[in-house]
Amino acid sequence: MTVTPPTPVVLPSLMSADMANLGSQIEALMDAGARVFHIDVMDGHFVPNLTVGPDFTAAAARVARPRGGIIDVHLMVERPGYLIDAFAPHADAISVHVEADPHVHRLLGEIRKRDLLAGAAINPGTPLTALEPLAGLIDYVNCMSVNPGFGGQSFIPTTPQRLRAIGRMFPGLPIEVDGGIGPETVAEARSAGADWLVSGSSVFGAPDPIAAFRQLQGAIG
Ligand code: DX5
Ligand code: ZN
Repeated sequence: MTVTPPTPVVLPSLMSADMANLGSQIEALMDAGARVFHIDVMDGHFVPNLTVGPDFTAAAARVARPRGGIIDVHLMVERPGYLIDAFAPHADAISVHVEADPHVHRLLGEIRKRDLLAGAAINPGTPLTALEPLAGLIDYVNCMSVNPGFGGQSFIPTTPQRLRAIGRMFPGLPIEVDGGIGPETVAEARSAGADWLVSGSSVFGAPDPIAAFRQLQGAIG
């Protein structure tokens, strides 16, 4: 069954979680109102970093899903088609980069065939016209607000205008914003049209991640 995240919502990015205490951090965030978790999968080719895979995603899903949690997987992977079956049982939404595969139509179809939300992720340096041919094939856009690869980077200031342009291009379609979302940027990204706001270091790097999550979620209503 396809599950759609509520809007507006802050998605803790588990790449920045305390891996030794993943389950208890997910539980505590859910007690504070978190519902959707973002998982960053990096292959060392599409981006210059390696992170987690299907086993990690399954572990997070085992804790989150019985409590009503939703798992959003962001594949920063070159030609990621070979991974879709491995992630599908543990995910509710998967985004793939328009830059990462010459057959992005096919990939999005493969994601939807598995009854998941299909997202198109787009890097800050890619013209938004790359999204136009995907009308009708996507359930959300993941608008990168940093160059992907690492947590803790600064929000690129041209992002709000890109969010607004995506909103005009696909009225009503959920827009995710990913990278550099914290107390100084969350409200601006929301008012530019972001519905799902991913936050890693501003949540898990804070002295009290639960309080930091509550503050971000509180800032967007
Ligand atoms: C960036 C990832 C982001 C990242 C966000 O490559 O796609 O999801 O975890 O982390 P922060 O919030 O620290 O920018
Ligand atoms: Zn991400």
